[in-house]
Amino acid sequence: MATSSGPTTGPTSDPESGPATRPTTGPTTGPTSDPESGPALFDAVVNLCKRRGFVFPSAEIYGGIRSTYDYGPLGALMLRNVREAWWRAMIQERDDVVPIDAAILTNPKVWEASGHLATFTDPLVDCRNCKERWRADQIEDECPNCGSKDLTEARPFNLMFKTFVGPVEGDSSVAYLRPETAQGMFVNFLNVLTTMRRRPPFGIAQLGRAFRNEITPGNFVFRTREFEMMELEFFVPPADGPRWQQYWCDERLAWYKRYGIAGEKLRLRQHEKEELSHYSAGTTDVEFFFPWGWGELEGIANRTDFDLRAHQDSSGTSLEYFDQATGETYLPHVVEPAAGATRAMMAFLLAAYDEDEIGGERRAVLRLHPRLAPYQVAVLPLSKKDTLTPLARDVLHQLQRHFMCEYDETQSIGRRYRRQDEIGTPYCVTVDFESLEDQQVTVRDRDSSEQTRLPIDSLVPHLLGRLEV
Ligand code: GAP
Repeated sequence: MATSSGPTTGPTSDPESGPATRPTTGPTTGPTSDPESGPALFDAVVNLCKRRGFVFPSAEIYGGIRSTYDYGPLGALMLRNVREAWWRAMIQERDDVVPIDAAILTNPKVWEASGHLATFTDPLVDCRNCKERWRADQIEDECPNCGSKDLTEARPFNLMFKTFVGPVEGDSSVAYLRPETAQGMFVNFLNVLTTMRRRPPFGIAQLGRAFRNEITPGNFVFRTREFEMMELEFFVPPADGPRWQQYWCDERLAWYKRYGIAGEKLRLRQHEKEELSHYSAGTTDVEFFFPWGWGELEGIANRTDFDLRAHQDSSGTSLEYFDQATGETYLPHVVEPAAGATRAMMAFLLAAYDEDEIGGERRAVLRLHPRLAPYQVAVLPLSKKDTLTPLARDVLHQLQRHFMCEYDETQSIGRRYRRQDEIGTPYCVTVDFESLEDQQVTVRDRDSSEQTRLPIDSLVPHLLGRLEV
């Protein structure tokens, strides 16, 4: 099952003491020439996330809750941008995909039919000596904590979170939090087909929270029990599955590059037969070179007609498609690019983090794609004096109609530039005393630190030209 494969190992009963565990080791082959790929990069990004308000341990004042994170102001902005970048590529820029937004609480019959109740499991072992719990497929035959070989037999552990709907807890009130958004698309296939007058090939896309009771969460937001998914179910005539799978592999790899991850930090990897999820006839992962090695960003699976057939059989409702053009009736096959939004955000942050020197001063800079950066523009009046404030605020209001902006008037201009560099703001607009005379402002570029003087009137078109990339 694609659910939990990856390099993480760690004790299940050992919550992270800080905001994140240090990366555990994993496959290490990759772009070794890059010195910023290791634990130092991981630490720098995790620290920055906490210090600058991207990601906080959840309910920190109560000691947190294991491997659960809250997205702070900058994290909420960036996560929204990751979602929007996905939505733009997968829905807005296409005419063959429609979105839905299905419920998280799901009827257990869905998970029975989909196979998740029976097979959405990881093999769990206990160490009889130190009582730690491990995923059997991620350890050798000894406990990584105490070295004991006295381990229990592996037993399947279902990853779905179970709850009860209504005041009575009993078999008839059981519901599950969705562990993937995909089933929402399958059970709504017929509704979408009829209301939107679609014919294969077409897709249904959805993004939203998913929940998995992972045995070994860790590596910061790489693997958490609550996370966000971005999934497309693309319905095609049965013979066309392999062709569309290749198409989506290429598209999805290109998306990560489009949003700033260098090609050498990305690769496609085909699953071995033993790795395949119960529904998949073939899966290829888009992988990123994380500080601990290659790890999955997204899986592109050929789910065949597995899910539609299962729901058809289980519900007794025909989900077949009648193609008027050819006179054929068939159950469409499905190609599924399934990505993690929170995991993608982490990869974008790791890929963007850089340190360099400007004017003899060291700086940390997030070279984020402008569409992913929490703020696109910062407005920085040179002084806090009343004389400058009205004009600076006027500039801010003009820009806010188009961009997410920050307004910062405290401390030296150099320090304010550094603060914006560190959170990835691509442009700073400085309002100075001359601006009062000539109605011009200075635009500073994050990456080159180049400064351009511009009339205030042309500021919006100038920045739109650069930010609408
Ligand atoms: N519907 C297919 C499916 O669920 P998956 O490979 O299990 O496939 C898709 O999950 C993506 O969701 C993964 O590639 C990963 O980016 C993300 N993901 C899965 N489990 C996660 C977790 N516990 N924490 C964060 N992201 C996760």
